[in-house]
Amino acid sequence: MNSVFNDEPSKIVVTCPPGVAHVLSQELSELGFRPGASLGSSVETEGTLADCVAMNFRLRTAHRVLYALDVFRARNGEDVYDELVALPWERYLDPDGYVSVDRAVDNPTIRDSRYAALKVKDAIADRMRNACGRRPDSGSDRTDACVFLHWVGDRASVYLDTTGVSLSFRGYRAVSSEAPLRETLAAALVLGSGWNRRDPFLNPMCGGATIAIEALWAAQNRAPALLRDNFAFMHLSCFDPSVLTRERASALRDWEEGKKNAPVVVASDVDSGAVDAARANVEAAGAAGAVQIECCDVVDSPVPPVPEGGRGMAILNPPYGGRIGDPVRLRDTYEDLGAFLAVAAEAGYGSVVITGNPELAEGAGLSARRVRTVHSGGIECALLFDASLSQAARRRFRRRNPGIRIPDAEESLPLGQDAETMNPPQRTASPS
Ligand SMILES: C[S@@+](CC[C@H](N)C(=O)[O-])C[C@H]1O[C@@H](n2cnc3c(N)ncnc32)[C@H](O)[C@@H]1O
Repeated sequence: MNSVFNDEPSKIVVTCPPGVAHVLSQELSELGFRPGASLGSSVETEGTLADCVAMNFRLRTAHRVLYALDVFRARNGEDVYDELVALPWERYLDPDGYVSVDRAVDNPTIRDSRYAALKVKDAIADRMRNACGRRPDSGSDRTDACVFLHWVGDRASVYLDTTGVSLSFRGYRAVSSEAPLRETLAAALVLGSGWNRRDPFLNPMCGGATIAIEALWAAQNRAPALLRDNFAFMHLSCFDPSVLTRERASALRDWEEGKKNAPVVVASDVDSGAVDAARANVEAAGAAGAVQIECCDVVDSPVPPVPEGGRGMAILNPPYGGRIGDPVRLRDTYEDLGAFLAVAAEAGYGSVVITGNPELAEGAGLSARRVRTVHSGGIECALLFDASLSQAARRRFRRRNPGIRIPDAEESLPLGQDAETMNPPQRTASPS
């Protein structure tokens, strides 16, 4: 028998942090889905509601998985109501349940997007009352069934949001630290870094250890949603619980297997409060013992040996001078970070630095082999791949730290002719 949940493919839109859709596309491919059109913060693909379960469970960079129900032209709110009251909502929603409607609206007739959401709710309620004699309650709580309206100009799309609360909430943030990265962005840094997930991984300036935890989970093949017990798809009337049971069991098997070959992961921070947060988060992530945590300055961060022919990875998220830190003192901090990178590069590590203040990095004498732009918490950030400290900055560092040995620029990184100077990154479009 045809099942709404298992057998009806549709367009699926997966959203992610702005600037990392290419990483999400790669993840979708690895899961066996064909990634289609991608904007800066979403990727389209195709699949059933059952496929949405796998995507919610496995995608590390995804925020929400949206299953398309309808695409239509709408000049005004009445058009939205007329179209949506004709949709068979009773196939998806429980008349005794609860539904929330979220929206992204840019239409000249709509001054308050809450009005558009109201039209969707009215259409759902009227259709359900006609079809079932009852209608679900509605409100803004995203812990039950969720519907999403995307309406730009006269083109509208309505989706079942199969996720609910964003997938970036993994469930391991036991203690919050200052300026944490979103888990999904941290995962994108790890997956997009080129790290092979076998050789050592370093996360100095770790704060709450988000990057280290995401690195360990990726290396262990641990599904990012294993700690989560609620998804919006579970509240659809057509939900097939056996799909979730199978997905969870297979994710647990993969994790058990992946744990056997987990690499060395080291996280460190100079601030003891951050180190306490890191320890609590690592413990909550089921990673105690698998992530080595040190309280030390970036220049003293451990650099374990990389096996012959291997390539470790160091990912750092230093203060930007905005939310935390003083920009003048921070120049020395960035210079120290560059000294750490010089030592790590000599030992066989690649690196990525994410900073909301690339001018500060450039002022400290850092240049990068490659630069990308992402957005973090509304701040445009540069990703600096294999950043290297200028020879002049190394001399300055040695004068400040006569006891610490760092290699000369030529020894550390073959930046050579093709090294990119760090122009401030170009702004990219960031759709909702
Ligand atoms: C932007 S936060 C990192 C946030 C982290 N990515 C997270 O998700 O929680 C920057 C961190 O750098 C640390 N830090 C600043 N100067 C440092 C230094 N010289 N050595 C080591 N850590 C430092 C701060 O204590 C802070 O925790």
